[in-house]
Amino acid sequence: MANAKLEIVNMTKLYNNGDGVKNINISVEEGELITLLGPSGCGKTTILRAIGGFNDIQSGDILIDGRSIINMAPEKRPTAMVFQSYNLWPHMSVYDNMEFGLKLRKVPKAERKQRITEMLELVKMPGVEKKYPGQMSGGQQQRIAIARSLLLRPEVLLLDEPFSALDAKIRQQMREELRKIQTDLNITVVFVTHDQEEAMALSDRVIVMNKGTIEQCGAPAEIYDRPVSRYVADFIGEMNFLQINGKTLAVRPEHVRVRKGTGGELDGFVRTVMMLGHYVEMTMDTDYGIVKTFISEEEAREYHKGDPVAMDFSKSFEY
Ligand SMILES: Nc1ncnc2c1ncn2[C@@H]1O[C@H](COP(=O)(O)OP(=O)(O)O)[C@@H](O)[C@H]1O
Ligand SMILES: [Mg+2]
Repeated sequence: MANAKLEIVNMTKLYNNGDGVKNINISVEEGELITLLGPSGCGKTTILRAIGGFNDIQSGDILIDGRSIINMAPEKRPTAMVFQSYNLWPHMSVYDNMEFGLKLRKVPKAERKQRITEMLELVKMPGVEKKYPGQMSGGQQQRIAIARSLLLRPEVLLLDEPFSALDAKIRQQMREELRKIQTDLNITVVFVTHDQEEAMALSDRVIVMNKGTIEQCGAPAEIYDRPVSRYVADFIGEMNFLQINGKTLAVRPEHVRVRKGTGGELDGFVRTVMMLGHYVEMTMDTDYGIVKTFISEEEAREYHKGDPVAMDFSKSFEY
């Protein structure tokens, strides 16, 4: 694609021990937020560091706006990276933290001040210039870290699990704020997370990784509705797996319809009925494995452990 903002072409980066990533191809459009998703150790950070210039690669190329960046030092690249934690210098005030990169780039003093003030407003933290990182919460510190990287106006912003050290509630709030700022400013972002919910909520496209390779790339809905492999089906959302005649049938809990009795596509017996707030999770024992579904509180009153249940699947996958 000629108009891609960021292109990774056949990139391989292996460490001395043989771990790393192989034959990675990724194309990111301008203004797109793309997420590398996968369990710990699958190679997400390795790719991000390669883009940022902190990892030498063995083969392949990385281009931004059509120009190869692999021979550029990290500070010369049009990228900025934010890590999971320890992003700010603790002995420096917020203002000094934010001003540092602008000074290096020889931005005049008055402009530095103006840009920092504007950026702090953008991330909803006006007036914190004199504070020190230790006087702020983890979420506030990450907000400043992202603000600081945005000040440098990178062509591509690299975020490596920036919210994973934060509480669930703050994490969700930060997610929404990031998405708003990213779309408002039309920034191109490569985001890394091991949290599938975060990836699905935040991204234009998600790249599901498995042991150093790309397993599937697509819009969140596409990956959820059409997981290409058992691995992706297992990693994204909830899924029942049934072993039937040597094949694996995968069914999402929301695609299981239940009624009392027998004569369904699959029959079984109630195993557990668990109240989970405004809905109820029910599991059934079958000859092919356990099946989970969600029902209303009202429906749940009909079902007791050991009752026969007939199941029909409105949608399923075969692997
Ligand atoms: N500096 C390194 N030297 C050797 N192996 C490494 C190094 N960094 C990462 N690895 C290995 O490479 C693989 C991918 O690591 P990483 O990119 O950090 O994964 P992720 O960010 O998805 O958790 C892992 O098996 C990890 O142990
Ligand atoms: Mg990592």
